[in-house]
Amino acid sequence: MPRPPTTFATARLFARPPRAEDAPAVFAAYASDPEVTRYLSWPAYTRVEPLAAFLRECESHREKGNGHLAWLLSLKGTDTPIGSIGLTLEGNGRAMFGYVLAKKFWGHGFTAEALTWLVDWVLTRPDIYRAWAFCDAENPASARVMEKAGLSREGVLRRWHVAPNLGPEPRDCLVYAKVK
Ligand SMILES: CC(C)(COP(=O)(O)OP(=O)(O)OC[C@H]1O[C@@H](n2cnc3c(N)ncnc32)[C@H](O)[C@@H]1OP(=O)(O)O)[C@@H](O)C(=O)NCCC(=O)NCCS
Repeated sequence: MPRPPTTFATARLFARPPRAEDAPAVFAAYASDPEVTRYLSWPAYTRVEPLAAFLRECESHREKGNGHLAWLLSLKGTDTPIGSIGLTLEGNGRAMFGYVLAKKFWGHGFTAEALTWLVDWVLTRPDIYRAWAFCDAENPASARVMEKAGLSREGVLRRWHVAPNLGPEPRDCLVYAKVK
């Protein structure tokens, strides 16, 4: 079974596992920005330490090999995080993706570039048949990222995901997938 790559590179980006020491840079780049976290499962961080704890958890998921994998993205030639992308190997032949990018870097195709690489890689695994992701129904930029990465829209998951920044009720989401 091919192991998920520890690091990977695309035309413009380098991806590597996050470490707790990255917390101040991740905090400054995007994790403290409420505009970035608007549709996500977490409120913007107001302190660095809880973010460091989360990054520590990411490291431990990777060490345990439980299928939760995250990478920090930086522009090639630098080590400053500009975003992150993650995948969960869910079993049943499925891999689910999530991603976030610092606002300053939106609109240059960076997220689609990272997602395309990882989706194509994961579908080379003989045990993965479905690469999928969802986004809030009101987050068209994220829907477009999935389309650009070759995923097709399958429909609406009604009342699927609570975005705590927008209220306590689960919201409608768009579901996209690439299958083989
Ligand atoms: C969603 C997000 C990751 C996109 O990152 P990005 O690197 O700017 O994405 P890309 O440049 O690869 O592609 C964005 C596409 O959406 C389009 N887009 C942006 N805003 C849009 C809008 N309001 N309506 C329709 N399309 C929009 C862009 O034009 C671009 O498409 P194009 O290349 O065909 O012109 C980034 O905006 C982000 O981090 N948002 C906050 C976190 C988030 O929502 N993550 C996704 C959770 S599901």
